[in-house]
Amino acid sequence: MESHRVFVATFMLILHLVQAQDQPGFINVDCGLLPRDSPYNALGTGLVYTSDVGLVSSGKTGKIAKEFEENNSTPNLTLRYFPDGARNCYNLNVSRDTNYMIKATFVYGNYDGHKDEPNFDLYLGPNLWATVSRSETVEEIIHVTKSDSLQVCLAKTGDFIPFINILELRPLKKNVYVTESGSLKLLFRKYFSDSGQTIRYPDDIYDRVWHASFLENNWAQVSTTLGVNVTDNYDLSQDVMATGATPLNDSETLNITWNVEPPTTKVYSYMHFAELETLRANDTREFNVMLNGNDLFGPYSPIPLKTETETNLKPEECEDGACILQLVKTSKSTLPPLLNAIEAFTVIDFLQVETDEDDAAAIKNVQNAYGLINRSSWQGDPCVPKQYSWDGLKCSYSDSTPPIINFLDLSASGLTGIIAPAIQNLTHLEILALSNNNLTGEVPEFLADLKSIMVIDLRGNNLSGPVPASLLQKKGLMLHLDDNPHILCTTGSCMHKGEGEKKSIIVPVVASIVSLAVIIGALILFLVFRKKKASKVEGTLPSYMQASDGRSPRSSEPAIVTKNKRFTYSQVVIMTNNFQRILGKGGFGIVYHGFVNGVEQVAVKILSHSSSQGYKQFKAEVELLLRVHHKNLVGLVGYCDEGENMALIYEYMANGDLKEHMSGTRNRFILNWETRLKIVIDSAQGLEYLHNGCKPLMVHRDVKTTNILLNEHFEAKLADFGLSRSFPIGGETHVSTVVAGTPGYLDPEYYKTNRLTEKSDVYSFGIVLLEMITNRPVIDQSREKPYISEWVGIMLTKGDIISIMDPSLNGDYDSGSVWKAVELAMSCLNPSSTRRPTMSQVLIALNECLVSENSRGGASRDMDSKSSLEVSLTFDTDVSPMAR
Ligand SMILES: *[C@@H]1O[C@H](CO)[C@@H](O)[C@H](O)[C@H]1NC(C)=O
Ligand SMILES: *[C@@H]1O[C@H](CO)[C@@H](O)[C@H](O)[C@H]1NC(C)=O
Ligand SMILES: *[C@@H]1O[C@H](CO)[C@@H](O)[C@H](O)[C@H]1NC(C)=O
Ligand SMILES: *[C@@H]1O[C@H](CO)[C@@H](O)[C@H](O)[C@H]1NC(C)=O
Ligand SMILES: *[C@@H]1O[C@H](CO)[C@@H](O)[C@H](O)[C@H]1NC(C)=O
Ligand SMILES: *[C@@H]1O[C@H](CO)[C@@H](O)[C@H](O)[C@H]1NC(C)=O
Ligand SMILES: *[C@@H]1O[C@H](CO)[C@@H](O)[C@H](O)[C@H]1NC(C)=O
Ligand SMILES: *[C@@H]1O[C@H](CO)[C@@H](O)[C@H](O)[C@H]1NC(C)=O
Ligand SMILES: *[C@@H]1O[C@H](CO)[C@@H](O)[C@H](O)[C@H]1NC(C)=O
Ligand SMILES: *[C@@H]1O[C@H](CO)[C@@H](O)[C@H](O)[C@H]1NC(C)=O
Repeated sequence: MESHRVFVATFMLILHLVQAQDQPGFINVDCGLLPRDSPYNALGTGLVYTSDVGLVSSGKTGKIAKEFEENNSTPNLTLRYFPDGARNCYNLNVSRDTNYMIKATFVYGNYDGHKDEPNFDLYLGPNLWATVSRSETVEEIIHVTKSDSLQVCLAKTGDFIPFINILELRPLKKNVYVTESGSLKLLFRKYFSDSGQTIRYPDDIYDRVWHASFLENNWAQVSTTLGVNVTDNYDLSQDVMATGATPLNDSETLNITWNVEPPTTKVYSYMHFAELETLRANDTREFNVMLNGNDLFGPYSPIPLKTETETNLKPEECEDGACILQLVKTSKSTLPPLLNAIEAFTVIDFLQVETDEDDAAAIKNVQNAYGLINRSSWQGDPCVPKQYSWDGLKCSYSDSTPPIINFLDLSASGLTGIIAPAIQNLTHLEILALSNNNLTGEVPEFLADLKSIMVIDLRGNNLSGPVPASLLQKKGLMLHLDDNPHILCTTGSCMHKGEGEKKSIIVPVVASIVSLAVIIGALILFLVFRKKKASKVEGTLPSYMQASDGRSPRSSEPAIVTKNKRFTYSQVVIMTNNFQRILGKGGFGIVYHGFVNGVEQVAVKILSHSSSQGYKQFKAEVELLLRVHHKNLVGLVGYCDEGENMALIYEYMANGDLKEHMSGTRNRFILNWETRLKIVIDSAQGLEYLHNGCKPLMVHRDVKTTNILLNEHFEAKLADFGLSRSFPIGGETHVSTVVAGTPGYLDPEYYKTNRLTEKSDVYSFGIVLLEMITNRPVIDQSREKPYISEWVGIMLTKGDIISIMDPSLNGDYDSGSVWKAVELAMSCLNPSSTRRPTMSQVLIALNECLVSENSRGGASRDMDSKSSLEVSLTFDTDVSPMAR
């Protein structure tokens, strides 16, 4: 007898083991288990658990505290915790398109001695699954896989270090637990019995864990010793189905209630029925099932000793999050309702689409090829959720298609070996940066096959051999190969070079100071621009105007309609490399440096949110600048008008503003007289165009040296049209508006009368001219006459032209030229606007000054002129500030 028992026990154990191993597709991971203890058979279930080594690349192993061991056993005892990285992921091999029950168990067990409250997030792939906030939690979800790998990720939400004890996956049949949409997160699963027994594997072949629900006071247990036929898709356990609950009072309903959070959560309930009593001929058990007061199904009669599962076909919301399921006896029923077991789930819609499968696979191959397993962010989905996307990747997101990887930056990552062939499978790549590594071998041909590639940066490696012609010839590709001692190529043709000679191939040439991040921004913009190339032909109507007239944009668009020059705020962020470099601060915003087109530098003026005045000015400026095109007016490249975020994107003026050059704050080199004349002639041309050339005609209203910007060739352009207002042609020659302008430059007549004419600009221009001549402050309270115009006037009455002149010019100018310029300036400053010259007249006079200066003999002048300019240019290429 005794031996018989032992035999049975042994047999049972063996049976369990066999079943465990026979259970196909089960994944049982004991997180934090040391490899030497792996695998083992768990007590009770007999399932084989293995260590998580190889499934996760980060984290440390831990063990729950001694006092918690009494209530736990393996696999709860060990855990893995993740002190580093914002997100850490397990990567599991699964079967694609399979209905999996996925379970994650968390038993804190004071493993770290901190007696903390857990708080962290659990993700399934890129989607939030649950927030873990209790010391002992089991999260279960029924989810259909979309690929052959599955990531379970733990993400920090605060200081608490995420941990996990067990990960279990059980493939289910396809046609069970089917939902209209989304995955099923388990709320509870119970069967009705007073046995107190928890049923799981092997009794439940899917290892669903059934807790015995102790019957409520007014409930009675029904049970059978006869076997229940459980042969159906749900494969329930006999033990689960052999008992059930009915109301004690035959005429009562059977109620089951639970709460969901948040209240809008949708629920599914799966009810398992089987008639357990032997009904007499005149007995009927029949009931209706209602969820939240709505009929779910019925009238229904359980089948004798045969399992049947019923569910709601649509997910249901519970009022205020309080769900009530009611089994209501029908009038013809002689017996009360009966329920054997129930599972309740909430629906989680996993809306976040995973990264393009091929891209994800390719980047993992790249990761493996370079052994980048320690990169803490290189876990889980490469692109999503955005806040956890991998370092060094940039992805392109759209609402309808999976994210794709279009940028890979592995510069300075200690890479060795060849350029990984796996890169060729990143087919959406636009930018590839592998600079400053220790890569060897040749530049592979496959790089030219990347359809969208625009930048390949291989600087600072140990690459060798010839560069494939296909790469050199690829249109629109920027290939950087500097600092590869053994590269054997020059632009256009390949030829051998002596060892040690540095080679640089840049197609097309890009300033080497340009950081990669900036190139990216530029490129993304380039992509935008590529499609809608706006021709910048002087004198012709700009293409955007044709666009808004001819190919008329949709009427729903905002007032500023120039689609092709409009940027989103995120484009602006990328363009400015997250507002990295400030060029200057203007009246109503900060100006940042940025890139468009890969090579085109821009100045991005961000309109500060605060000034409401600013918004009006912003719109005025956009509308104006989009109409105006002239080589002496700073061109508008585009703008951003996205709610609160407004920005203007101008062409970049490498040499900043005129004032900086005059004051010497930019560099210590002075502008000679000829250069100053050229600058004022440029500015005058810009103004003249505003006054006479463009439609409608315009007054600048804020002409001053800080609004005259210089490009890399020291050509001047007028900036800041924010204060400009159109004024009508013919008829009235003025418009009355709020007086605007800068003290010292402001036309006194305009100030007094509030009558604005183009002659106000002429006045301001006269001040600029005086600054060019004297290089003195416009207003200087310490001067006998604070205003420069008055001061010059006094000096002139004294006949002292020499002391007017900027002493740093060292007398190196044609005095006739200077004298004429002084005269001109004073005539511009005539208190009576009608007696001031027009800008056309100013231009003629200035050109005469230039002719006069140029006709002056003497080698020293030429030398000076050249050196001063050239030196400025050399010194200016990498310094920036351009204030407006
Ligand atoms: C173990 O479980 C028992 C009964 O539920 C409980 O009273 C006890 O506090 C638990 N021990 C620990 C360390 O949690
Ligand atoms: C492990 O912990 C979970 C959560 O507390 C519990 O439900 C489960 O029964 C435990 N299992 C074992 C084998 O200790
Ligand atoms: C997962 O699958 C990949 C390739 O199919 C294989 O290389 C890897 O070893 C597998 N991992 C595990 C843990 O089975
Ligand atoms: C159990 O039910 C299935 C299908 O419903 C049937 O094919 C099978 O014969 C039944 N088994 C027994 C033992 O009645
Ligand atoms: C059973 O319920 C009905 C209706 O709720 C009630 O009238 C009756 O008194 C109850 N019977 C018992 C025995 O409690
Ligand atoms: C079930 O719910 C209904 C409606 O809320 C209630 O009238 C009834 O008394 C409940 N029955 C039991 C047994 O609690
Ligand atoms: C059903 O039949 C049994 C005898 O078979 C009888 O004792 C019982 O009273 C009947 N019940 C009803 C409600 O008619
Ligand atoms: C990666 O991590 C492992 C274990 O944490 C460590 O042994 C190895 O040195 C690391 N490799 C690198 C390249 O940091
Ligand atoms: C590229 O992808 C294809 C198809 O997925 C695969 O067969 C091939 O091995 C990959 N190539 C490399 C170099 O990883
Ligand atoms: C590159 O590798 C060589 C040898 O393989 C080594 O001597 C050199 O220090 C490495 N350079 C860098 C920058 O890691």
